[in-house]
Order: sequence, then C-alpha cells, then structure tokens
Amino acid sequence: MTLIERLKEFTSNESISMHVPGHKNNTIGDLSDLLTFNFDMTEIKGLDNLHDPVEVLKDLNGFLSNKTPGYFAQAMVNGTTNGILSAIFALSKECQTFVLYGDIHKSIYHALDLVSASYEIITKEELFNYDYSDKALIITSPNYEGNILENISSLVSYVHDRNGYVLVDSAHGAHLSITENFPEAAYLSKADIIVESYHKMLPALTMASVIFVKEERLYNEVMTFINYFETSSPSYLIMASIESAQQFYNNYKDGLFFKRRKKLIEHLNQQGISVKEADDPCKLLLNWQHGPYALEDSLINENIYAEMTTDSGVLFVLPLWHEGDCYPYSQLLDRLERLCLIKNENNQDKDISNLLGKVCVQNVVPYPPGIPLVLKGEIFTEADLKQLQQYLFNHVKIEGIDYNINYYV
Ligand SMILES: Cc1ncc(COP(=O)(O)O)c(C=O)c1O
Repeated sequence: MTLIERLKEFTSNESISMHVPGHKNNTIGDLSDLLTFNFDMTEIKGLDNLHDPVEVLKDLNGFLSNKTPGYFAQAMVNGTTNGILSAIFALSKECQTFVLYGDIHKSIYHALDLVSASYEIITKEELFNYDYSDKALIITSPNYEGNILENISSLVSYVHDRNGYVLVDSAHGAHLSITENFPEAAYLSKADIIVESYHKMLPALTMASVIFVKEERLYNEVMTFINYFETSSPSYLIMASIESAQQFYNNYKDGLFFKRRKKLIEHLNQQGISVKEADDPCKLLLNWQHGPYALEDSLINENIYAEMTTDSGVLFVLPLWHEGDCYPYSQLLDRLERLCLIKNENNQDKDISNLLGKVCVQNVVPYPPGIPLVLKGEIFTEADLKQLQQYLFNHVKIEGIDYNINYYV
C-alpha cells in the first residue's frame, strides 16, 4: 500500500484524535479557513527570508515575542528539535559543560553528541546544590505526561547567581499560561532559552515551533545555528500556521474546555477507566483492569487514537475545546460507552538476551516518548532487558534496538 493510500484509508474512518498535533484532525481552531494551498510559497520578493527576517517575518517574530515580553522570538519550521540543536550549539560557545535534569529528549543527546560537549546528569537533590558556573542547565517542563518542574523561577535565579545558563525544553508547553486557569509557562521564569512545539498543543501544522531567547547576543548566536540546521526553503504554510496558533492563544477562552474535561473524566470513570490527572489539565493518564496495552487496543477498535501507551497508562492529550470548534465530542462519549475488551496478539519474536552485559553502541529509545532508556556507552543490565522485552512484547516502537542486536550477532 502506498503512503497516500494509507493516509486516505486512515482518515476515512472518522478517527478521533487524543494526540498531537493540537488542531486534532483540523477540528480545533480554524486553520483550514486561514490557510490555502496558494500559501505554499517561497522567498520571492515581498515575502521576506526566515533566516534574515527584515519585513513580514520580522513582524511575525515581533508578534510572537509579545507572548513573552523581554524575549526575542524566532518562528521555526523544523520543530523543537531544530531549536534544541541550535540552542545547544550557541550555548556551547559560552560553556564547556551541560547539566541535565529530568526527562531528557533524544534531540538533546544528539546535540551534545554533535558538539562533543561533556555533560552530567544530576538528581533532584542536587538541583539547588550545584556549582553551575560557566555551565548550562537543561530541564524539561512540562514533561510528556504533563508534569511541571516546581520552582523553575527560583532555580533560574539560583543558576544565574552562579553565572550559569538555563535552557528549558518546553516542547509540550506552548499552551501554558493561555488563561489564568492553566499552569504558568516556562517563559515567566526568565530562563535564557525556551523552545516550544506550537504544533503539539496549539492548532498549528506539524513541525511549527518557536524559540524564545532572552539576551540579544545569544539570540544572534542561536540564529546563526538555525541557519545551519534548518531548511533553506521554510514552509510558508507552517509559518502562517504559527501566526494563526498565536492568534488562537491570544484570544482563547477556557469555559468549554473545563466543562468538557470534567464530563469526560466522569464518563471514563463510569466505563471502569481510572484517570490520573497531571499539572497540565490537557494531559490525562488512563488505565483499567485489563492493563494499558489492552485499553489502547480497545480504544483503537473504536477509532479513538491516544498519544502514547506505556506501562503507566494510556496518555490522552485533550483538545483545547472552544465555542464553535468541530471536535466530535459527543461521538467520543458514545464510542467510549461502546468500548469492549480487545487484546491484540503480543509480539514474541525478538530475542534480546545476547545484549546482557554488552556496551550499548547506539541509544535505545522507546518512541514515543523519545527519552533514551539506555545511552550509547552504557552497559545493558538485566533490568534494562526486562523493560525492553516488556515494551517489545506490547508492540512499543524501540529505536536503536535492532542496531544493537545486529552489532553483537
Ligand atoms: C520533551 C521533548 N522535547 C523535544 C521534542 C522534539 O520536538 P519536535 O517534535 O517539535 O521536534 C519532543 C518531541 O516529542 C519532546 O517530547
């Protein structure tokens, strides 16, 4: 089957999205009213240049920076991955060492690998007990599951007082501070660099992201590396979708969101599905008596697609519901009522036992969430293999596992 045939088949079954991108199959926001195929343009006269913006794209960046007074903003079309690569290259001019805390996305390890920087992973106890001088601390907030790092502002002051820098990977946080009922966004912490995937949580096209940088000198460095890493033919459709998502953010009213969210949680509970809430009200972790993988299979049987399934549960990313949206909310409730137990065959066929005690030669990354489980250079332990076997058994995609297996054959 070709990709186009597969996409046609997939979209004709009226699937319901509880995953990214934030436009949820074009039912949230009004992207398709704003964007037409004619907007798929290139840098002809009058349309500016994203890598040296002086006209309309400079205005777009100015509009984006109104979100975060005191920051320079740059729209990006290659996702937060591009922002992270550029930020780490720019910071490596100032610091030799990086300090990592919490869930660290693979793009951060890739950037550190490319700059050949040394890094140290610290614990929660060390966060406020560490000498950050001439180092850059990298944190993730919110994480994939929607949990926010506490006291980011105090942490940023602590690091700055010791002459360090802070980069916040806020790929999952573009919607924070959208109203006073949502948790505070990372940009309020005065961190040096913040990167947000607009496409994940706001109605924007996939790959739409924005980087916010506090100091002009660092911003200019970051811009140099964005020019190195990002396509020289940026999509005007993606850029226009960033503007549209920012307008959505500026005008959003949350009344319907919280009403629907409450009713959905009650409805799930009535079907025997437990719901764990996170700091971010858009993230819900679901489970039931038959385990998360059977829950995912059963939801897919009703054409409801979640963002991610791990041993902890099935992750729903809620839409930013609003008056006038086209999200199939009542169909969602109806389909949940019809839910019956489906359990797909488990995957028995991959033998990874030969990796025990071996050195990992390529990062092993369950995807999603894209956070490495075993890093290049580490030794595969029994606990690692048990966890990997469990993921493989449940059809979780594991990047890098075949490379390691084949290396030791
Ligand atoms: C924590 C985290 N950081 C960064 C990224 C990369 O973001 P993008 O897909 O916009 O490149 C992701 C993607 O899932 C992520 O989960």
